[in-house]
Amino acid sequence: MKVLVTGGAGYIGSHVTELLIERGHQVVVYDNLVAGHRAAVHPHATFVHGDLLDQEQLTDLFASHTFDGVMHFASHILVGESMQNPWKYLRDNVAGTTNLLEAVASAHVRRFILSSTANLFDKPQHIPINEDEPLIPGSVYGETKFIAERMLMWMDKLYELKYCCLRYFNASGAHPKGHIGEDHYPETHLIPIVLQVALGQRDHLTIYGSDYNTPDGTCIRDYIHVLDLGEAHIMALEALADGRSRVYNLGSGSGYSVLEVVETARAVTGHPIPLQYGQRRSGDVDVLVADSSRIKQELGWSPKYDHLQRIVETAWNWHKNHPYGFGDRKK
Ligand code: UFG
Repeated sequence: MKVLVTGGAGYIGSHVTELLIERGHQVVVYDNLVAGHRAAVHPHATFVHGDLLDQEQLTDLFASHTFDGVMHFASHILVGESMQNPWKYLRDNVAGTTNLLEAVASAHVRRFILSSTANLFDKPQHIPINEDEPLIPGSVYGETKFIAERMLMWMDKLYELKYCCLRYFNASGAHPKGHIGEDHYPETHLIPIVLQVALGQRDHLTIYGSDYNTPDGTCIRDYIHVLDLGEAHIMALEALADGRSRVYNLGSGSGYSVLEVVETARAVTGHPIPLQYGQRRSGDVDVLVADSSRIKQELGWSPKYDHLQRIVETAWNWHKNHPYGFGDRKK
């Protein structure tokens, strides 16, 4: 298939691009490089430097290629930032997705995979969280993904676009070959920050809150390896051939507290990783752990990196060998 990957220069998009190419698909990456890295894009992918807010450029893109499917990763992704700067999220994420979907409908593309989020589950009633849990976005960021999921529902009704929303829990780890990995600037995610402490780039980790309703008082998250996420994308793209749209929650099914992540990183890196406690971060919830049985049953997906230690090892392999990421930090 010929697949358009928006945000294919970003962390998850670059790993999925890699898998698509390994499986013999053709990939066009469309990325504005605001957060992504040109060096993260697989050399066999066609790279287009473009923005989803530029409708003319999108029209040109769809006029130049006939896509069998679209995978949409390009978006702002930070829960905390979206509560400080809601307009950035509402404008860019929602307008970008709207422009993309309009182009997809005009070009009669039939398959669409949305990079969605566990941030649709604020105060979940049942842990682990399955797809029947009520959708209550936990932040403005989560709201933008909720809107995207709703838009897709209408796209199916109006244009027969078959879609799969993959609601990721905490994407983490890096390609085991160590040539691509997580490189955000500024970094806000737990595992890379912990590893930056191990590298001596930070003095300590600040844990955001110690009074959550969890056994050790720190938030519990479900860390899923980026290549396990990638496999799910490929399976979902193929599964849409049956003409049925779907949504899946995607996690490894095990929850780890912030302190457990730190302990694991201490064991993997051999570094003491000093820590301090700070205030809670706006938008964080106590526990987010996925029930991924639906995608396991329907598509036969199963995570290969189902131990936090393996996830942290692959991340450490990337960070240790690329202490400044892709080396193109602009700010
Ligand atoms: N944390 C700290 N200190 C830090 C960084 C993080 O204590 O310096 C804590 C957070 O408060 C949270 C946990 O570590 O409890 C994980 O935080 P991350 O920032 O790594 O990830 P989030 O859970 O906030 O968000 C991630 C993605 C979102 C996605 C969400 C889904 O960034 O896009 O997972 O669960 F929506």
